[in-house]
Amino acid sequence: MRVLSGIQPSGDMQLGNYLGAIRKFVDLQHQYDCNFCVVDMHAITVWQDPVKLREQTFHIAAAYIAAGVDPEKAVIFHQSGVRAHAELAWILNCVARLGWLDRMTQFKDKAGKDKERASVGLYTYPVLQAADILVYKATHVPVGEDQKQHLELSRDIAGKFNHDFKTPDFFPLPEPLIKGPGARIMSLRDGTAKMSKSDPSANACIYLKDDADLIAKKIKKAKTDPEPLPTELDGLTDRPEAKNLVGIYGALSGKSDEDVLSEFGGQGFGVFKPALAELAVEKIAPIGTELRRLEDDPTYLAGILEKGAEKAAAIADPIVRDVKEIVGFLV
Ligand code: TYM
Repeated sequence: MRVLSGIQPSGDMQLGNYLGAIRKFVDLQHQYDCNFCVVDMHAITVWQDPVKLREQTFHIAAAYIAAGVDPEKAVIFHQSGVRAHAELAWILNCVARLGWLDRMTQFKDKAGKDKERASVGLYTYPVLQAADILVYKATHVPVGEDQKQHLELSRDIAGKFNHDFKTPDFFPLPEPLIKGPGARIMSLRDGTAKMSKSDPSANACIYLKDDADLIAKKIKKAKTDPEPLPTELDGLTDRPEAKNLVGIYGALSGKSDEDVLSEFGGQGFGVFKPALAELAVEKIAPIGTELRRLEDDPTYLAGILEKGAEKAAAIADPIVRDVKEIVGFLV
Protein backbone atom coordinates (compact mmCIF):
# COMPACT_ATOMS: atom_id res chain seq x y z
CA MET A 1 0.00 0.00 0.00
CA ARG A 2 1.39 3.37 -1.00
CA VAL A 3 0.01 6.78 -0.01
CA LEU A 4 0.38 9.97 -2.07
CA SER A 5 -1.11 13.38 -1.50
CA GLY A 6 -0.29 16.98 -2.34
CA ILE A 7 -1.01 20.56 -1.33
CA GLN A 8 -0.68 23.64 -3.54
CA PRO A 9 1.74 26.40 -2.51
CA SER A 10 -0.82 29.02 -3.48
CA GLY A 11 -1.36 30.63 -0.08
CA ASP A 12 -0.91 30.03 3.64
CA MET A 13 -1.97 26.70 5.02
CA GLN A 14 -5.39 26.95 6.66
CA LEU A 15 -7.42 24.92 9.12
CA GLY A 16 -9.28 23.04 6.34
CA ASN A 17 -5.99 21.81 4.85
CA TYR A 18 -4.94 20.67 8.30
CA LEU A 19 -8.15 18.91 9.34
CA GLY A 20 -9.06 17.60 5.88
CA ALA A 21 -5.60 16.44 4.80
CA ILE A 22 -2.42 16.91 6.84
CA ARG A 23 -3.80 15.39 10.02
CA LYS A 24 -4.49 12.22 8.05
CA PHE A 25 -0.94 12.30 6.66
CA VAL A 26 0.42 12.32 10.21
CA ASP A 27 -1.59 9.22 11.15
CA LEU A 28 -0.86 7.32 7.92
CA GLN A 29 2.93 7.77 8.01
CA HIS A 30 3.22 5.18 10.78
CA GLN A 31 1.63 2.41 8.74
CA TYR A 32 2.32 3.07 5.05
CA ASP A 33 4.90 4.12 2.52
CA CYS A 34 3.90 7.81 2.40
CA ASN A 35 4.75 10.50 -0.15
CA PHE A 36 3.66 14.10 0.39
CA CYS A 37 4.20 16.60 -2.30
CA VAL A 38 4.14 20.40 -2.59
CA VAL A 39 2.37 20.73 -5.93
CA ASP A 40 4.05 23.81 -7.35
CA MET A 41 3.19 22.84 -10.95
CA HIS A 42 -0.49 22.87 -10.00
CA ALA A 43 -0.11 26.26 -8.30
CA ILE A 44 1.04 27.96 -11.53
CA THR A 45 -2.21 27.05 -13.30
CA VAL A 46 -3.24 30.45 -11.94
CA TRP A 47 -0.78 33.35 -11.75
CA GLN A 48 1.82 33.11 -8.97
CA ASP A 49 4.45 35.69 -8.23
CA PRO A 50 7.75 33.76 -8.64
CA VAL A 51 9.34 35.08 -5.43
CA LYS A 52 6.22 34.30 -3.43
CA LEU A 53 5.87 30.86 -5.01
CA ARG A 54 9.28 29.84 -3.69
CA GLU A 55 8.41 31.15 -0.21
CA GLN A 56 5.06 29.37 -0.26
CA THR A 57 6.75 26.13 -1.29
CA PHE A 58 8.91 26.36 1.83
CA HIS A 59 5.83 27.33 3.83
CA ILE A 60 3.95 24.16 2.85
CA ALA A 61 7.00 21.97 3.53
CA ALA A 62 7.37 23.66 6.94
CA ALA A 63 3.66 23.15 7.67
CA TYR A 64 3.89 19.42 6.90
CA ILE A 65 6.74 19.06 9.36
CA ALA A 66 5.31 21.41 12.01
CA ALA A 67 2.03 19.49 11.98
CA GLY A 68 3.86 16.23 12.62
CA VAL A 69 4.88 14.68 9.29
CA ASP A 70 8.33 13.22 9.96
CA PRO A 71 10.66 13.63 6.96
CA GLU A 72 12.51 10.49 8.08
CA LYS A 73 9.30 8.46 7.84
CA ALA A 74 7.50 10.05 4.90
CA VAL A 75 8.93 11.48 1.69
CA ILE A 76 8.32 15.26 1.49
CA PHE A 77 9.18 16.80 -1.88
CA HIS A 78 8.29 19.40 -4.48
CA GLN A 79 6.44 18.20 -7.57
CA SER A 80 8.61 20.13 -10.05
CA GLY A 81 11.66 18.39 -8.58
CA VAL A 82 10.53 15.03 -10.01
CA ARG A 83 10.34 15.18 -13.81
CA ALA A 84 8.34 11.98 -14.02
CA HIS A 85 5.15 13.87 -12.99
CA ALA A 86 5.22 16.05 -16.12
CA GLU A 87 6.23 13.17 -18.37
CA LEU A 88 3.40 10.95 -17.24
CA ALA A 89 0.94 13.86 -17.28
CA TRP A 90 1.47 14.30 -21.03
CA ILE A 91 0.82 10.64 -21.72
CA LEU A 92 -2.28 10.71 -19.50
CA ASN A 93 -3.50 13.84 -21.33
CA CYS A 94 -3.76 11.55 -24.32
CA VAL A 95 -5.74 8.98 -22.32
CA ALA A 96 -8.22 11.33 -20.59
CA ARG A 97 -11.23 12.46 -22.66
CA LEU A 98 -12.35 16.05 -23.16
CA GLY A 99 -15.83 15.08 -22.03
CA TRP A 100 -14.46 13.94 -18.68
CA LEU A 101 -12.60 17.20 -18.09
CA ASP A 102 -15.62 19.23 -19.18
CA ARG A 103 -17.46 17.89 -16.16
CA MET A 104 -14.88 19.05 -13.59
CA THR A 105 -16.55 21.50 -11.23
CA GLN A 106 -13.29 22.92 -9.87
CA PHE A 107 -12.35 24.20 -13.33
CA LYS A 108 -15.76 25.85 -13.65
CA ASP A 109 -15.39 27.46 -10.20
CA LYS A 110 -11.85 28.66 -10.72
CA ALA A 111 -12.20 29.79 -14.33
CA GLY A 112 -15.37 31.73 -13.50
CA LYS A 113 -17.43 33.30 -16.26
CA ASP A 114 -14.52 34.20 -18.51
CA LYS A 115 -13.19 30.73 -19.19
CA GLU A 116 -11.60 31.79 -22.48
CA ARG A 117 -8.97 33.56 -20.38
CA ALA A 118 -8.21 30.61 -18.08
CA SER A 119 -4.89 28.86 -18.65
CA VAL A 120 -4.83 25.56 -20.52
CA GLY A 121 -3.01 24.21 -17.44
CA LEU A 122 -6.05 24.97 -15.28
CA TYR A 123 -8.20 22.89 -17.59
CA THR A 124 -5.88 19.90 -17.60
CA TYR A 125 -5.06 20.28 -13.87
CA PRO A 126 -6.85 17.06 -12.86
CA VAL A 127 -4.80 15.04 -15.35
CA LEU A 128 -1.59 16.27 -13.71
CA GLN A 129 -3.15 15.28 -10.39
CA ALA A 130 -3.80 11.78 -11.76
CA ALA A 131 -0.15 11.66 -12.87
CA ASP A 132 1.00 12.67 -9.35
CA ILE A 133 -0.79 9.66 -7.97
CA LEU A 134 -0.24 7.08 -10.70
CA VAL A 135 3.45 7.86 -11.18
CA TYR A 136 3.97 6.14 -7.81
CA LYS A 137 1.26 3.53 -8.38
CA ALA A 138 -0.21 4.96 -5.17
CA THR A 139 -3.10 2.97 -3.74
CA HIS A 140 -4.44 5.49 -1.20
CA VAL A 141 -4.94 9.23 -1.42
CA PRO A 142 -5.88 11.19 1.72
CA VAL A 143 -7.74 14.38 0.77
CA GLY A 144 -10.63 16.62 1.80
CA GLU A 145 -14.09 16.23 0.30
CA ASP A 146 -13.53 18.85 -2.42
CA GLN A 147 -11.10 16.47 -4.16
CA LYS A 148 -13.62 13.66 -4.61
CA GLN A 149 -14.32 14.38 -8.27
CA HIS A 150 -10.62 14.63 -9.13
CA LEU A 151 -9.99 11.29 -7.47
CA GLU A 152 -12.80 9.68 -9.45
CA LEU A 153 -11.19 11.03 -12.60
CA SER A 154 -7.81 9.57 -11.56
CA ARG A 155 -9.47 6.18 -11.23
CA ASP A 156 -11.11 6.55 -14.65
CA ILE A 157 -7.80 7.49 -16.26
CA ALA A 158 -6.00 4.55 -14.61
CA GLY A 159 -8.77 2.20 -15.75
CA LYS A 160 -8.74 3.47 -19.33
CA PHE A 161 -4.96 3.21 -19.58
CA ASN A 162 -5.07 -0.38 -18.26
CA HIS A 163 -7.86 -1.21 -20.71
CA ASP A 164 -6.50 0.54 -23.82
CA PHE A 165 -3.04 -0.96 -23.52
CA LYS A 166 -4.30 -4.38 -22.38
CA THR A 167 -2.30 -4.18 -19.17
CA PRO A 168 -5.20 -4.79 -16.76
CA ASP A 169 -3.18 -4.63 -13.55
CA PHE A 170 -0.62 -1.98 -14.43
CA PHE A 171 -2.06 0.96 -12.51
CA PRO A 172 -3.92 0.27 -9.28
CA LEU A 173 -7.19 2.21 -9.02
CA PRO A 174 -6.37 4.69 -6.23
CA GLU A 175 -8.70 4.78 -3.22
CA PRO A 176 -9.57 8.22 -1.85
CA LEU A 177 -9.39 8.54 1.95
CA ILE A 178 -11.90 11.30 2.58
CA LYS A 179 -14.23 10.29 5.36
CA GLY A 180 -13.90 11.51 8.90
CA PRO A 181 -14.41 14.76 10.77
CA GLY A 182 -12.90 17.79 9.10
CA ALA A 183 -13.39 16.61 5.50
CA ARG A 184 -15.18 19.86 4.66
CA ILE A 185 -14.41 22.94 6.76
CA MET A 186 -16.29 26.07 5.75
CA SER A 187 -15.36 29.76 5.83
CA LEU A 188 -15.78 31.55 9.16
CA ARG A 189 -17.52 34.40 7.30
CA ASP A 190 -19.90 32.28 5.21
CA GLY A 191 -20.92 28.78 6.23
CA THR A 192 -21.86 27.90 2.66
CA ALA A 193 -18.38 28.59 1.18
CA LYS A 194 -15.38 26.31 1.61
CA MET A 195 -12.54 27.60 3.77
CA SER A 196 -9.81 28.30 1.23
CA LYS A 197 -6.24 29.61 1.34
CA SER A 198 -7.05 31.89 -1.57
CA ASP A 199 -9.99 33.58 0.25
CA PRO A 200 -9.37 37.34 0.08
CA SER A 201 -10.82 37.84 3.59
CA ALA A 202 -8.18 36.94 6.21
CA ASN A 203 -10.96 36.55 8.81
CA ALA A 204 -12.55 33.73 6.79
CA CYS A 205 -9.66 31.38 7.57
CA ILE A 206 -7.68 30.26 10.54
CA TYR A 207 -4.15 29.92 9.21
CA LEU A 208 -1.77 27.45 10.80
CA LYS A 209 0.66 30.29 11.37
CA ASP A 210 -1.82 32.50 13.24
CA ASP A 211 -0.79 33.10 16.83
CA ALA A 212 -3.03 32.39 19.83
CA ASP A 213 -4.54 35.90 19.97
CA LEU A 214 -5.40 35.94 16.29
CA ILE A 215 -6.98 32.48 16.40
CA ALA A 216 -9.17 33.52 19.36
CA LYS A 217 -10.07 36.81 17.66
CA LYS A 218 -11.13 35.13 14.42
CA ILE A 219 -13.35 32.66 16.28
CA LYS A 220 -14.91 35.46 18.29
CA LYS A 221 -15.67 37.32 15.05
CA ALA A 222 -16.94 34.24 13.20
CA LYS A 223 -20.39 34.69 11.69
CA THR A 224 -23.18 32.99 13.67
CA ASP A 225 -26.90 33.31 14.20
CA PRO A 226 -28.75 34.49 17.33
CA GLU A 227 -30.17 31.07 18.32
CA PRO A 228 -28.61 28.84 20.97
CA LEU A 229 -27.06 25.58 19.79
CA PRO A 230 -29.59 22.78 19.31
CA THR A 231 -29.44 19.54 21.29
CA GLU A 232 -29.92 17.34 18.20
CA LEU A 233 -28.11 17.23 14.83
CA ASP A 234 -31.37 17.94 12.97
CA GLY A 235 -31.43 21.36 14.59
CA LEU A 236 -28.32 22.35 12.60
CA THR A 237 -30.15 22.06 9.27
CA ASP A 238 -30.26 25.49 7.59
CA ARG A 239 -27.75 26.85 10.12
CA PRO A 240 -24.53 26.51 8.09
CA GLU A 241 -22.36 28.70 10.33
CA ALA A 242 -23.43 26.93 13.52
CA LYS A 243 -22.95 23.55 11.84
CA ASN A 244 -19.45 24.51 10.73
CA LEU A 245 -18.34 25.65 14.19
CA VAL A 246 -19.73 22.47 15.76
CA GLY A 247 -17.89 20.46 13.10
CA ILE A 248 -14.62 22.30 13.79
CA TYR A 249 -15.01 21.68 17.53
CA GLY A 250 -15.67 18.00 16.85
CA ALA A 251 -12.73 17.62 14.45
CA LEU A 252 -10.32 19.33 16.85
CA SER A 253 -11.49 17.44 19.93
CA GLY A 254 -11.99 14.03 18.32
CA LYS A 255 -15.68 14.09 19.36
CA SER A 256 -18.66 13.43 17.14
CA ASP A 257 -20.98 16.35 16.32
CA GLU A 258 -23.66 14.60 18.45
CA ASP A 259 -21.32 14.59 21.45
CA VAL A 260 -20.48 18.25 20.93
CA LEU A 261 -24.20 19.06 20.90
CA SER A 262 -24.90 16.99 23.99
CA GLU A 263 -22.24 19.07 25.75
CA PHE A 264 -23.20 22.50 24.40
CA GLY A 265 -26.84 22.12 23.21
CA GLY A 266 -29.04 24.85 24.65
CA GLN A 267 -26.07 27.19 25.18
CA GLY A 268 -25.53 30.35 23.18
CA PHE A 269 -22.44 31.29 21.17
CA GLY A 270 -21.35 33.46 24.12
CA VAL A 271 -20.45 30.17 25.82
CA PHE A 272 -19.57 28.03 22.81
CA LYS A 273 -17.21 30.42 21.03
CA PRO A 274 -14.81 30.88 24.00
CA ALA A 275 -14.71 27.08 24.45
CA LEU A 276 -13.95 26.62 20.75
CA ALA A 277 -11.33 29.38 20.82
CA GLU A 278 -9.59 27.74 23.77
CA LEU A 279 -9.57 24.36 22.02
CA ALA A 280 -8.35 25.79 18.71
CA VAL A 281 -5.56 27.73 20.42
CA GLU A 282 -4.49 24.59 22.30
CA LYS A 283 -4.35 22.49 19.11
CA ILE A 284 -3.22 24.99 16.45
CA ALA A 285 -1.01 27.61 18.14
CA PRO A 286 1.88 25.18 18.89
CA ILE A 287 1.91 24.14 15.22
CA GLY A 288 2.13 27.81 14.26
CA THR A 289 5.08 28.39 16.60
CA GLU A 290 6.98 25.46 15.07
CA LEU A 291 5.96 26.50 11.56
CA ARG A 292 7.37 30.00 12.01
CA ARG A 293 10.59 28.56 13.44
CA LEU A 294 11.04 26.22 10.46
CA GLU A 295 10.26 28.96 7.94
CA ASP A 296 13.23 30.87 9.30
CA ASP A 297 15.47 28.05 8.08
CA PRO A 298 14.94 27.77 4.31
CA THR A 299 18.28 25.95 3.92
CA TYR A 300 17.00 23.10 6.07
CA LEU A 301 13.71 23.02 4.16
CA ALA A 302 15.46 23.08 0.77
CA GLY A 303 17.55 20.10 1.92
CA ILE A 304 14.44 18.14 2.95
CA LEU A 305 12.73 18.83 -0.39
CA GLU A 306 15.80 17.99 -2.45
CA LYS A 307 16.45 14.73 -0.63
CA GLY A 308 12.72 13.92 -0.85
CA ALA A 309 12.67 14.59 -4.59
CA GLU A 310 15.55 12.15 -5.08
CA LYS A 311 13.74 9.45 -3.12
CA ALA A 312 10.50 10.11 -5.00
CA ALA A 313 12.25 10.00 -8.39
CA ALA A 314 13.75 6.64 -7.48
CA ILE A 315 10.20 5.26 -7.24
CA ALA A 316 8.67 7.20 -10.14
CA ASP A 317 11.35 6.91 -12.84
CA PRO A 318 11.13 3.13 -13.33
CA ILE A 319 7.32 3.36 -13.44
CA VAL A 320 7.44 6.02 -16.18
CA ARG A 321 9.98 3.91 -18.05
CA ASP A 322 7.49 1.01 -18.00
CA VAL A 323 4.70 3.34 -19.18
CA LYS A 324 6.82 4.52 -22.10
CA GLU A 325 7.53 0.96 -23.09
CA ILE A 326 3.83 0.07 -22.87
CA VAL A 327 2.75 2.95 -25.11
CA GLY A 328 5.44 2.14 -27.68
CA PHE A 329 8.09 4.82 -27.12
CA LEU A 330 11.76 3.95 -27.57
CA VAL A 331 13.22 3.40 -24.09
P1 TYM B 1 -5.39 22.13 -2.08
O1 TYM B 1 -4.02 22.71 -2.01
O2 TYM B 1 -6.51 22.98 -2.50
O3 TYM B 1 -5.80 21.52 -0.69
C1 TYM B 1 -4.94 20.63 -0.03
C2 TYM B 1 -5.74 19.60 0.75
O4 TYM B 1 -6.57 20.25 1.72
C3 TYM B 1 -7.91 19.83 1.54
N1 TYM B 1 -8.79 20.97 1.85
C4 TYM B 1 -9.80 20.93 2.70
N2 TYM B 1 -10.29 19.95 3.48
C5 TYM B 1 -11.36 20.26 4.26
N3 TYM B 1 -11.95 21.48 4.31
C6 TYM B 1 -11.48 22.49 3.53
N4 TYM B 1 -12.05 23.69 3.58
C7 TYM B 1 -10.36 22.24 2.69
N5 TYM B 1 -9.66 23.00 1.82
C8 TYM B 1 -8.70 22.21 1.31
C9 TYM B 1 -8.03 19.42 0.09
O5 TYM B 1 -9.10 18.53 -0.10
C10 TYM B 1 -6.67 18.78 -0.13
O6 TYM B 1 -6.68 17.43 0.33
N6 TYM B 1 -5.80 19.28 -6.15
C11 TYM B 1 -5.26 19.30 -4.81
C12 TYM B 1 -3.76 19.14 -4.76
C13 TYM B 1 -3.20 17.91 -5.40
C14 TYM B 1 -3.34 16.58 -4.97
C15 TYM B 1 -2.58 15.78 -5.89
C16 TYM B 1 -4.02 15.98 -3.91
C17 TYM B 1 -2.42 17.90 -6.53
N7 TYM B 1 -2.05 16.62 -6.81
C18 TYM B 1 -2.50 14.40 -5.76
C19 TYM B 1 -3.93 14.58 -3.80
C20 TYM B 1 -3.18 13.81 -4.71
C21 TYM B 1 -5.65 20.63 -4.19
O7 TYM B 1 -6.11 21.52 -4.82
O8 TYM B 1 -5.31 20.77 -2.94
